[in-house]
Amino acid sequence: MNTASFDLFMEQQKQKVDRALLEEVDRIKAPQVLKDAMSYSLKAGGKRIRPLLVFAVLDAFGKELEYGMKAACAIEMIHTYSLIHDDLPSMDNDVMRRGKPTNHIVYGEATAILAGDALLTHSFTLLTENMPKGITAEQKLELVSVISSCAGAGGMVGGQTADMEAEGKAISLAELEYIHEHKTGRLLSASVLAGAILAGATKEEKAALKDFSHHLGLAFQIRDDILDIEGSEEEIGKPVGSDVANHKNTYPALLTLDGAKAKLQEEISVALSVLKELNMERGFLYDITKLVAFRTK
Ligand code: IPE
Ligand code: IPE
Ligand code: MG
Ligand code: MG
Ligand code: MG
Repeated sequence: MNTASFDLFMEQQKQKVDRALLEEVDRIKAPQVLKDAMSYSLKAGGKRIRPLLVFAVLDAFGKELEYGMKAACAIEMIHTYSLIHDDLPSMDNDVMRRGKPTNHIVYGEATAILAGDALLTHSFTLLTENMPKGITAEQKLELVSVISSCAGAGGMVGGQTADMEAEGKAISLAELEYIHEHKTGRLLSASVLAGAILAGATKEEKAALKDFSHHLGLAFQIRDDILDIEGSEEEIGKPVGSDVANHKNTYPALLTLDGAKAKLQEEISVALSVLKELNMERGFLYDITKLVAFRTK
């Protein structure tokens, strides 16, 4: 791995996305309190893994990274909305996110819900308006179709529902995998597939990248579960122990901490082997996968 170029790629793209996200909200004509609440959570930081995945796929295909900016912002807005709602008292009831008080603590529940609604909805404006020249109407349609199905009832929202329903109940590993794949995996898949759509990938390449993203998504949430136990609150920017407090089903709860770590390694190995088959073992996707495995925040 060429660490220097990966670090530079992450730093530069993260800065550009951070800036673009705030500019997008600034441009909207809406009540100031709503815009403030939207910007508050976007500005709170975050690793921007989903945007970085969009850019890493474009890079793997040798395409201009700028092509992915609107889609990257759209997906990050959907992700940020999901976090605002996930933290609500009626859901995980968490008071810290990205190192700052959660949205509802600052703006109240009603405005937090509306800020989430607005971020979700605005993402589709971004996917359809002012896209860079050269992106066809077919590509925009495919982006909307893939991203909406990954985010909706058959994707992230379905996963969040199953996660909630399973609280305090004994479930099987297959049921837990369904939860993780949907609540977290699907939006990561959307990011990888958005990059593939914008890069003009073939059907076969998209199928292989989807398979890669499935394993990456599972690994990402297993690591999230592990960090909820042994992470540092300062680094992860959210409370540790939230899952135990909420009687959540997690990989460590079902498999023990060591079992969860072994499963994480297994998923990472499969994800990396799919990248090898795609001849992408030298690119940023490979580096991001490694980062997901060992991340401490
Ligand atoms: C947290 O996502 C919620 C999950 C889906 C596990 P991230 O770990 O990507 O959170 P940020 O964006 O860096 O805050
Ligand atoms: C949430 O999973 C995934 C989302 C769709 C937001 P978690 O509830 O484990 O996420 P954190 O730990 O609060 O970030
Ligand atoms: Mg949750
Ligand atoms: Mg949560
Ligand atoms: Mg968690």
